[in-house]
Amino acid sequence: MNHSSKTEKLALFGGPKTIQSDFKRYNPIGTEEVQAAKEVIESGVLSQFLGAWHEDFYGGPKVREFEYRCAEYFGVKHAVTFNSWTSGLVAAVGAIGIEPGDEVIVTPWTMSASATAILHWNAIPVFADIDPETFNLDPKSVEANITSYTKAIMVADIFGQSADIDELMAIAAKHGLKVISDTAQAPGALYKGKHAGTLAHVGGYSLNYHKHIHTGEGGILVTDDDEIAERSQLIRNHAEVVVGDKGVTKLSNMIGHNFRLGEIECAIGIEQLKKLSGFVQSRQAMADRLTAGLKGLRGLRTPLVKPDRSHVYYVYPLILDIKKLGVGRERIHAALQAEGVAVSDRYQNIHLLPVYQRKLAYGSRGFPWTSDICHRDVDYRKGICPVAEELNDVSYLGFGMCVYDLTEADVDLIAAAFRKVWANLNFLQEGASVASTA
Ligand SMILES: Cc1ncc(COP(=O)(O)O)c(C=O)c1O
Repeated sequence: MNHSSKTEKLALFGGPKTIQSDFKRYNPIGTEEVQAAKEVIESGVLSQFLGAWHEDFYGGPKVREFEYRCAEYFGVKHAVTFNSWTSGLVAAVGAIGIEPGDEVIVTPWTMSASATAILHWNAIPVFADIDPETFNLDPKSVEANITSYTKAIMVADIFGQSADIDELMAIAAKHGLKVISDTAQAPGALYKGKHAGTLAHVGGYSLNYHKHIHTGEGGILVTDDDEIAERSQLIRNHAEVVVGDKGVTKLSNMIGHNFRLGEIECAIGIEQLKKLSGFVQSRQAMADRLTAGLKGLRGLRTPLVKPDRSHVYYVYPLILDIKKLGVGRERIHAALQAEGVAVSDRYQNIHLLPVYQRKLAYGSRGFPWTSDICHRDVDYRKGICPVAEELNDVSYLGFGMCVYDLTEADVDLIAAAFRKVWANLNFLQEGASVASTA
């Protein structure tokens, strides 16, 4: 097989690499953050939390200001900061009153913390399948997984686009369930004009350093519910020693932690929040440019954004139609990588992690599944989430947009790399030897 004169040889086979140098790493931290952090350091008060019923139970001035500004920005009654969004998720599950053995429906296409926050309270994660258009929980699968033991739904707004939150909230209302929105990856994404994460009973965002805005580590919980906000604040800050003096009577899950975020992080967060919409807009512009650049490539599905919501492209997800392409994902992935595009060929199938496959969480005897708090034998076998599994095993490709500070020229190079690989698909087919492409 010979290359046509028009197609350049793939880098995989020794041809020139499309992207010759690394793209600039995304770094949203500017001089404003440096100045804000410096002022806190110079004040000497790097945290002002007190794990007792006292005005400093709510933290110092920067914590309170950041929370006030987050509540205002996201349009909610309460924002509660955490030292990570993993901590925020743990607090959210505890705050809604989950009991040991309760079932919480969760997506398998998420970061592990969405599900381990459920296990933290000895509750049982039940995995429902996802919608291949949004990669988020499929409301039909959620409904099919509800049992008399289900108490909540853990939704993730994965990659930067909101789940079908209205449908999920309607299902929750019908069955008397609470909904937690893990919007770690989608701060700034809108659903029917409102911020993703704010339409569930409780939601929130990650502030770890991979995200659109960050404070190194951190998380923000958002809710309109006074009780959830108070219980989250208690779980954040040594609830067990505070509840007595605060006069809290509902003591379930009122064992606390130290999930507090410091003053430096919150001072940085205040500056980052001011920049969020600008960051999101420029990422959206780059994603739109990439979509235009990939237009017309057969068997490649670019991100689908539902008309009632916006996508903030933490990840730019693609789907390969392997039948149309006649080439397996492994070879396309290798060819794109060789051209210098750092695409990943899988995301997550959380239900297949060892903790669920072996049903071993706390200790070595299978707690909580083997204990009598667990009402039934919950199935985690491969096959329970066919859409998520097919995507992970066969057809998904993702580009981590939030990793880079992409210019238009960078995006054009990425599109050129895809076009080059697509022009050479016949050389990637099974049986086409590398030697024959020389
Ligand atoms: C979907 C999702 N949930 C939860 C988390 C946990 O957030 P954190 O790293 O702030 O603990 C992440 C972090 O990447 C995430 O992507």
